Amino acid sequence: MLIYGPLSPGQVSFFLGIVPVCAAWLYSEYLEYKKNSASSKVRHSDINLVELGNEAVKEDDRAVLLEGGGLQSTSPRIRSSSVTSQIARFFLMDETFLLENRSTLRAISEFGALLTYFYLSDRTNLFGESKKSYNRDLFIFLYFLLIIVSAITSFKIHHDKSPFSGKSIMYLNRHQTEEWKGWMQVLFLMYHYFAATEIYNAIRVFIAAYVWMTGFGNFSYYYIRKDFSIARFTQMMWRLNFLVFFSCVILNNNYMLYYICPMHTLFTLMVYGALGIFNKYNENGTVIAVKFIACFLVVILMWEVPGVFEVVWSPFTFFLGYADPDPSKPKQSLLHEWEFRSGLDRYIWIIGMIYAYYHPTVERWMEKLEETEVKRRISIKAAVALMSLTVPPLFCRCLNFRTSLPCVFIIQMSDGISLV
Ligand SMILES: *[C@@H]1O[C@H](CO)[C@@H](O)[C@H](O)[C@H]1NC(C)=O
Repeated sequence: MLIYGPLSPGQVSFFLGIVPVCAAWLYSEYLEYKKNSASSKVRHSDINLVELGNEAVKEDDRAVLLEGGGLQSTSPRIRSSSVTSQIARFFLMDETFLLENRSTLRAISEFGALLTYFYLSDRTNLFGESKKSYNRDLFIFLYFLLIIVSAITSFKIHHDKSPFSGKSIMYLNRHQTEEWKGWMQVLFLMYHYFAATEIYNAIRVFIAAYVWMTGFGNFSYYYIRKDFSIARFTQMMWRLNFLVFFSCVILNNNYMLYYICPMHTLFTLMVYGALGIFNKYNENGTVIAVKFIACFLVVILMWEVPGVFEVVWSPFTFFLGYADPDPSKPKQSLLHEWEFRSGLDRYIWIIGMIYAYYHPTVERWMEKLEETEVKRRISIKAAVALMSLTVPPLFCRCLNFRTSLPCVFIIQMSDGISLV
């Protein structure tokens, strides 16, 4: 096996760290097996265990769409014991500790296996290399397969309750935005996998839609739940960045190569800041309006005024800097890539926030619409559908986005499906 380049300190630490965890996990599985075979002789204690297991699964289910659910589901006993004593128990191979944390150990081991696979694929010649090749028919075929498969599961109706009225949120509820994000993520992956450059424009539109949702979702969350706690905040930062952090370590790559993560982190921080500062006054419409204006001003100052971006970000060059290795490209400042990437969608998150602010109003319109008589209702809905099918393509046409037309249609369709 040929290894490209010497191992970096990060890679060495990763491999040194993951080995004892995997060993501990295997040992915990063995302990679990031993315990089960012992307790199967004493029937009744077994039932208890099964019940405990079910309880845990239910808890997990609930945590999936409930932000911050992870923290609450940790049992108070585990939370109260200090971190150092936990680490000590790990190294002492404390059997009850290993049994209690078997699923965590398994998750870390799985994650380690995945990263090891990244390493083997990208930094050794264990697996062969191939060139990316794009074939439109294959691309569209795979996409239609996806549409069919998802359509089968899409028609399930979820009822997300609004914390204001207790009624279910009809459109752009969390299930829908989550599904919308999923559709776009598949397209991002397919775009990169096949190097489908002809849909570049559409992909840009999707990334903007994603950033729009960063503003929309986070605004709604902070505005309604008012949970600015450090715990939830760090949890979200971790969720946004842990995979990219470990990918950078294991592949010895630059953070900026995964620019989508710092970009979303930045805009999430901006929304958090916008709502968190003076959050006592968020109920006041004027204050919110001033906050929106302030957001625009910050963006204008940072990206439109030459030189400001460099000054603000220069202390962070050590992880946001990037030097293009291609010698034929002109020499740029190290922060150029970050400025370019973060600048592409610099306004849309504010639009998302404004939209989120008026979302309850639009919901009320929708409710009224549902109450009107059939004929009127259907004609209004048809007019809206017609408009959303024609206006974006026309808009793209004006901007000369011709190649992205089919994809804009696809956004409409996938959005439509999630609205069903
Ligand atoms: C906030 O934005 C981030 C980045 O897009 C996203 O992962 C997270 O789910 C958003 N939070 C909410 C509550 O929508």
